[in-house]
Amino acid sequence: LVVVIDFGAQYAQLIARRVREAKVYSEIMPHTSTVEQIVARRPKAIILSGGPQSVYAEGAPQVDPRLFEQQIPVFGICYGFQAMARALGGDVARTGLSEFGRTPTVVDNAGVLLAGLPAELSVWMSHGDSVAAAPAGFAELARSSGAPIAAFENVERSLAGVQWHPEVQHSQAGQRVLERFLYEIAGCTPDWTAKNIVEDSVASIREQIGDKHVICGLSGGVDSAVAAALVQKAVGDQLTCVFVDHGLLRKGEAEQVERDYVAATGVDLKVVEAADQFLDALAGVIDPEQKRKIIGREFIRTFEAAARQVVGEHSHDGEVEFLVQGTLYPDVVESGGGEGAANIKSHHNVGGLPEDLQFKLVEPLRTLFKDEVRAVGEQLGLPAEIVWRQPFPGPGLGIRIIGEVTRDRLAILQEADAIARAELSAAGLDREIWQFPVVLLADVRSVGVQGDGRTYGHPIVLRPVTSEDAMTADWGRLPYDVLEKISTRITNEVREVNRVVVDITSKPPGTIEWE
Ligand code: XMP
Repeated sequence: LVVVIDFGAQYAQLIARRVREAKVYSEIMPHTSTVEQIVARRPKAIILSGGPQSVYAEGAPQVDPRLFEQQIPVFGICYGFQAMARALGGDVARTGLSEFGRTPTVVDNAGVLLAGLPAELSVWMSHGDSVAAAPAGFAELARSSGAPIAAFENVERSLAGVQWHPEVQHSQAGQRVLERFLYEIAGCTPDWTAKNIVEDSVASIREQIGDKHVICGLSGGVDSAVAAALVQKAVGDQLTCVFVDHGLLRKGEAEQVERDYVAATGVDLKVVEAADQFLDALAGVIDPEQKRKIIGREFIRTFEAAARQVVGEHSHDGEVEFLVQGTLYPDVVESGGGEGAANIKSHHNVGGLPEDLQFKLVEPLRTLFKDEVRAVGEQLGLPAEIVWRQPFPGPGLGIRIIGEVTRDRLAILQEADAIARAELSAAGLDREIWQFPVVLLADVRSVGVQGDGRTYGHPIVLRPVTSEDAMTADWGRLPYDVLEKISTRITNEVREVNRVVVDITSKPPGTIEWE
């Protein structure tokens, strides 16, 4: 374990991910952690992250100098570098020479940390203060025009640091700098691999669940699919998966879960066919928020009924003890990183189960980032269509039909969407395009001409976007030939559609979905 101490910048998660990319397990701890709390985790190394403030600012987080006396290797980054210098008796000066962005940095003495790297590095800086004198016993390694000491190390004590941000992609050789610290100075071994993650988590799931029964709601998305596959591998037929087919899925999706997923994992799957129930409840509804509420409500009802049935079938004392949830590490970090909650009150993914259905949570993805979840999914042999699936909203196509949701309209949208997805895949753009909603403007008609006749059909909107986290997005620049193929195929193959348009709005101001 490598502990990344979070000094409050947005970079701590990125550092933790980069450490894991070096195949070394890492976790984030807040800077308010005491030396005792940190040492209790028995880390192989500690990394001090960047932070937003000057070390001189009032209330700026400091590093307890005792941290450096625990015989644990420490690497300081940016603010962490300065805090380290200060705690060890070096000098941090307010030079007034701020550096932001790409900065040429000269390596005068490579030492162990920078050995084998170019003599001049173009790295990402973001600082106001800078280290003016290294602590006693430290070798100065590099400098930039705004940072007279931009890197230092004390190999005997296994301490080192850099002023720049090696974790950001713009920093030349950034990953190599991190790896040199981890492998050469801290003596870490690269053994955090998908195979080991699977083995470790299977062992701990077994220990947690014992001989009890466990239930998992599958959404068709990658997180619940991987979580359930891990639990299945650990406890086999003690797991029952529940998949609610609300009729608002994309073409072939329910079949994919029923057939491919079960074939790949062997899970005991309970499919609840609830399309009629959902569509009846949605009849006549146009307002998007209203649609979401109805779909959410019906989902809870359906899942709850299925859960009660599983409880009845599998439990002697009237309760299934465990519920699998696909919580990821960023959610854990962002919600304060507390250790596993015992009873669920509100369950985000299944939409808030009632309190009289009390489960303990099994969260096998709690320590993983999204890319690691995908690697684990591949390791478990899940189909690529599931592992690399783009995000899809819980309310499904219900919020991609602008107007009332009916069976006929769903069928039209499913066909058009299947064509758009197939052509995106054929063009090899599935991973480049982050999400690709296809929207039916069901209450709009326009005039067209097809064959010899006039048509009066509906438009389909293509909404390809690029994004990292869905908070902001840009419209995806699909190549013209791909757009052309999609347009031709949809208008030829989906009778009710006579026009295809592309949404070229970023978010903000537009959201990704139309409703
Ligand atoms: P917007 O449209 O707000 O979408 O830009 C951001 C991301 O969230 C997804 N989304 C939803 N997911 N239930 C969900 O589970 C919802 O009601 C919902 N609405 C939007 C959307 O697909 C995008 O990835």
